[in-house]
This record gives sequence, structure tokens and C-alpha cells, in this order.
Amino acid sequence: MSDVLEFAGVSVVRGRKTLLDSVDWQVKDGERWVILGPNGAGKTTLLQIAGARLHPTKGEAGILEETMGSVDVFELRPRIGLASAALANQIPEHETVLNVVVTASYGVTGRWREQYEKMDERRAFRLLNQWGMSTFLNRPFATLSEGERKRVQIARALMADPELLLLDEPGAGLDLAGREDLVQRLSELAADDEAPALVLVTHHLEEVPPGFTHAMLLREGGVVAQGPIAEVLTEENLSSAFDMPLELKEDGGRYTAVARRS
Ligand SMILES: Nc1ncnc2c1ncn2[C@@H]1O[C@H](COP(=O)(O)OP(=O)(O)OP(=O)(O)O)[C@@H](O)[C@H]1O
Ligand SMILES: [Mg+2]
Repeated sequence: MSDVLEFAGVSVVRGRKTLLDSVDWQVKDGERWVILGPNGAGKTTLLQIAGARLHPTKGEAGILEETMGSVDVFELRPRIGLASAALANQIPEHETVLNVVVTASYGVTGRWREQYEKMDERRAFRLLNQWGMSTFLNRPFATLSEGERKRVQIARALMADPELLLLDEPGAGLDLAGREDLVQRLSELAADDEAPALVLVTHHLEEVPPGFTHAMLLREGGVVAQGPIAEVLTEENLSSAFDMPLELKEDGGRYTAVARRS
């Protein structure tokens, strides 16, 4: 298995604030990671580095066997699929669903564009179909519900056939059925041998899809625990990450946590 991510002592400092504090992290091909931690823990910052959008202040970030700082990020970024609220906000209101997905391949296919257009459209359609959005092709992105938007964003992130897929809170704003649908789809993606390495950021244990293999818990920029998911998602580790005594339940790969009653 090759290294998808290899972080050594990665820190991000802004003014007097340490957003990430000397993070060591290895993600191998085929692994499915979930990153959990309270608001402000540094999860999005970690994902920004993994997505080659941000340079560490200190330390080394290896991404797809390249090193940030000595590689052209514009060559690296198309190899990484990223879905986040910040990216969704940049989508023009009137852009149609099909276009939102197809345009993710521009800049990858480059100068022989015309030959790729039909192929790109077919791939975009296939992905939208897989994510249950095939009847929305001509709908403006802005008119979609939150759950529909999330699925379009994931299809977009997969469009360029990335080697690494980064999802920053894909469950945010979804209702119960929407969340369960997403968890099921992500669980299927996790089980797909052809799928890229996955890193999912969430606040909620209920959103951890069965089949995810590894977890990292962050608190105030530092790693509380990381490794195989069953070893990391324990009452002790979660209570420490969220700074609150928690009661944890696991059933068939689904997790729930509530405050411990004294
Ligand atoms: N440019 C900056 N200058 C100072 N502080 C910053 C800057 N950018 C981010 N931060 C702070 O860094 C911390 C980590 O932010 P980050 O977005 O990575 O957290 P997060 O774990 O994704 O939080 P959330 O769960 O709320 O999305 C936050 O406290 C944030 O306010
Ligand atoms: Mg965040």
C-alpha cells in the first residue's frame, strides 16, 4: 500500500494562535478515515493541507507522494477531490447540476477539450445517477435542497477520478432521512475497492459510516488519538476530545454518544 498522506510535525500558526500543533499522520491507499473533534479543533485546517490548499507553517506534508512546497499545487489539486461548504459557496447560483459536476474536470483535460466533452458529460451523468441526482441535471444548483446539494458536491468531487477524496462535514444541515441516506451511500463507497482513499470530517458520531477503517480525534489543534477506528472511538478518548464525560454505544458499525448522567 502506498502513502496517500504522510504528515510529519505539521503545524499551522496564525498570529499567536496554533491551529494545528505538530500533527503526524499517515493515510494509506484503501483506508477510510473519519476526523472528529469539537468546533475550532482544526479539522478544516487539516483538510485544507491534505487538499493542497494550505501550506503548513512548520513540518512536512506529503500528499500523494509529493511534498507540499516542492511541488506545483496546480498539478496536485486535480488528483484530490474536495467537498466543503466553502467550495459550495463559490458555485454560481444559476449553474446547472450537470455543469457543476462537469466543470470539475476542466483544467484536468486541458488542451484537447473538445474530444473530452462528451466523455465528461457521460461520466458526470453516471456519477449523478449513482448519487441519486439524475433527474436534476438542468436544475440550477441554488434551487436544490441541502441534501441534494451535498450529493451533487460529492459527485463533483469524484468527477476527476481523484486518488484522495476529502469531505468536510457532508452531513451538515441534513434531516434524519437525509443523513441516513448519506451514511448508507458513504458506507457503500467505503466498501468499493475502486474508490479513492477517503477522509471524512464530522462532529457527529452518528455520521460515521460503517466500513470506515480509521479515526483521528482532534482537540485544540492537537491529536487526542488516531489509528484503527475501534481503538480510537472509545468513551475515554471521545470524552477527552469533546471535554465532557460521554457514554458511547456501538452497534453494527454505527456509533452514538450522549453525555454521561451522573
Ligand atoms: N486566519 C486565522 N487566524 C486566526 N485563527 C484562525 C484563522 N483561521 C482559522 N482560525 C482558527 O483556527 C481554529 C481552527 O479552525 P478550523 O476551521 O480548522 O476548525 P474546525 O475543527 O474545522 O471547526 P468547525 O468544527 O467549527 O468547522 C478556529 O478556532 C479558528 O477560529
Ligand atoms: Mg470545520
